[in-house]
Amino acid sequence: MIASAQAFERAAQLRRELEAHNHAYYVLDAPTIPDAEYDRLFRELEALEREFPELATPDSPTQRVGGAPMPELAPVQHAVPMLSIRTETDTTNGGVVAFDTRVRNALGLAPADGPVEYLGELKFDGLAISLRYEHGVLVRAATRGDGETGEDVTHNVRTIRQIPLRLVGSPPALLEVRGEIYMRRDDFQRLNTRQEQAGDKLFINPRNTAAGAVRQLDPRIAAKRPLSFYAYGLGETAGWTLPATQAELLDAFAALGLPVCEHRVVAAGVDGLCEFHDRIAALRDSLPYDIDGVVYKVNRFDLQRELGFVTREPRWAVAHKYPAQEEITELLGIEVQVGRTGALTPVARLKPVFVGGVTVTNATLHNEEEILRKGVLIGDQVIVRRAGDVIPEVVGPVVERRTGNERTFVMPTRCPVCASHVEKAEDEVVARCTGGLFCPAQRKQALLHFAGRRAMDIEGLGDKLVDQLVEAGIVKTPADLYKLGVLALANLPRMAEKSAANLLAAIEKSRHTTLARFIFALGIRNVGEATAKDLARHFGSLDALMDATAERLVEVRDVGPVVAQSIAGFFAEAHNREVIEQLRAAGVTWEEGEPAAPVAGSASGKVFVLTGTLPTMSRDEAKALIEAHGGKVSGSVSKKTDYVVAGAEAGSKLAKAEELGVVVLDEDGLRRLLEQG
Ligand code: IVH
Repeated sequence: MIASAQAFERAAQLRRELEAHNHAYYVLDAPTIPDAEYDRLFRELEALEREFPELATPDSPTQRVGGAPMPELAPVQHAVPMLSIRTETDTTNGGVVAFDTRVRNALGLAPADGPVEYLGELKFDGLAISLRYEHGVLVRAATRGDGETGEDVTHNVRTIRQIPLRLVGSPPALLEVRGEIYMRRDDFQRLNTRQEQAGDKLFINPRNTAAGAVRQLDPRIAAKRPLSFYAYGLGETAGWTLPATQAELLDAFAALGLPVCEHRVVAAGVDGLCEFHDRIAALRDSLPYDIDGVVYKVNRFDLQRELGFVTREPRWAVAHKYPAQEEITELLGIEVQVGRTGALTPVARLKPVFVGGVTVTNATLHNEEEILRKGVLIGDQVIVRRAGDVIPEVVGPVVERRTGNERTFVMPTRCPVCASHVEKAEDEVVARCTGGLFCPAQRKQALLHFAGRRAMDIEGLGDKLVDQLVEAGIVKTPADLYKLGVLALANLPRMAEKSAANLLAAIEKSRHTTLARFIFALGIRNVGEATAKDLARHFGSLDALMDATAERLVEVRDVGPVVAQSIAGFFAEAHNREVIEQLRAAGVTWEEGEPAAPVAGSASGKVFVLTGTLPTMSRDEAKALIEAHGGKVSGSVSKKTDYVVAGAEAGSKLAKAEELGVVVLDEDGLRRLLEQG
């Protein structure tokens, strides 16, 4: 069926309206209608175009979504070549003077002629593009290529909401707009968050991501990459009265509905440009996108023509770069550092590189997962980034530069400082040294914790004193505290006799304590004050606790598999047992008692395993309920398991239960069982 004149008119009106809203939203950043209203208009246009396909013109907003993939990118001849500009290598104000001097000399200007008028713009860090509008309609988009021949990327560029498919106002018969496609930093972050959640590879930086997106064969991929655009130059035109200056050209672009960067200024001579340069330098880190410098252009087009080109570079423009925020250097090695809490942090040792205004020789890689995520190998050439005051970061490898001699990093299984075992909880990204009391890297932290008010309560043993004692080598483990004498203390700088005596008295006072305090003082990971009390009550003695298996440990109220593993891991370390022995030998004592009697109840002596999500009870609640009825909750299914309580999305434990023929209950079944006894 042929579209009626009415349908034709309505479609044209919808296109105009939608593009106007698009412009208000994406270019002016000032939405004019609510999203729902926009969607309604959009759907109406889609429906019309479905009914009458001839209404789906290339400038229809419905054409942005991304059509079929292209077999290849077709070459495009640029009628007006897309040239690049000279980069001024002197990053100081000297660069400005050099440029201005060349311009003045070429124009034959004397000092009396006054300053040259320039336009200062930003140098966007993206991908140059040429947009061809015929009678106001976007008909083709091409990359720069070698300047003479680029690639046709119209299918992808159409998906960029900031680029008008139809110009507004009074566009000429032909207008080629040149500018930069780039990606905002927040859009880049969001994109990478999505990648991470989907388990996909992370993108290196906004620039490469933007360039990669524009050169995709499949526009559906480009449509998912949030790209932006700024216009800054002119290609071929026909039927247009050319503006007289670069500043007026940018104003004319804005009037046609094209995005133009607000940070542009007409500057008089060297002083004006230097001011612009310094102002933008101060602004750089707070801009929502990356720039690598500023661009100066002689403002008047007649003067630009007079200046012309030297070897394919205009004499009338120059790029003045800021110190780079990204550089490539070699990843010499990955060193593992142990923090005060035992956390093992891999640190990149880099071949020194000057980036972001400082020389960078190392950068944290955070943890093993981060290294895998970034895909860096030892020996790689890596991109190092330092923007503003942010700490330097290894962004990722330059895969193309691999030689085959690179090595994968493996997290050590022993602490590089004390050789204790390294443990990594299943649901944690950080690997930790289990050396605790024994590890020199954790010594200060461990001592402070040990002496804390809610632990052994050694009054006066604070931060500074611990630092002094450890640095002087007088105290290595908590046991050494009980061997201190006045002599050793008096030799410390700034230690008065009186304070030494006070400290010794406080240490003496702490010699006798409770089991709960002593357990807490050991600084076992995941064992807080409350858990320490539960453990003390449950086991009655330190020896019973030290010999408890993970299976026995989860029987304690509020102790799950993770905590049980921390405790068992701590006591499995011979060093830790040694420190405890030393403490005992030094005369530290605590009250011990009988282990708590098992609660008699309907589930007395029965072993339960919980898996999946129960409809109304949290895992902790279910555990508490079972324990209140005398049952035990274990972390894994074995032949000793009596019941498996399974909720939604139960996994391997349920399968194991079925395999072993263990009775499986749901939440209701559990309640009934506990009630009947
Ligand atoms: S003007 C003939 N202005 O930097 C002059 N370029 O080599 C053509 N760029 O390829 C370029 N911001 O990709 C111009 N405000 C700006 C720019 C800019 C970024 C890029 C562009 C060009 C390269 C310079």
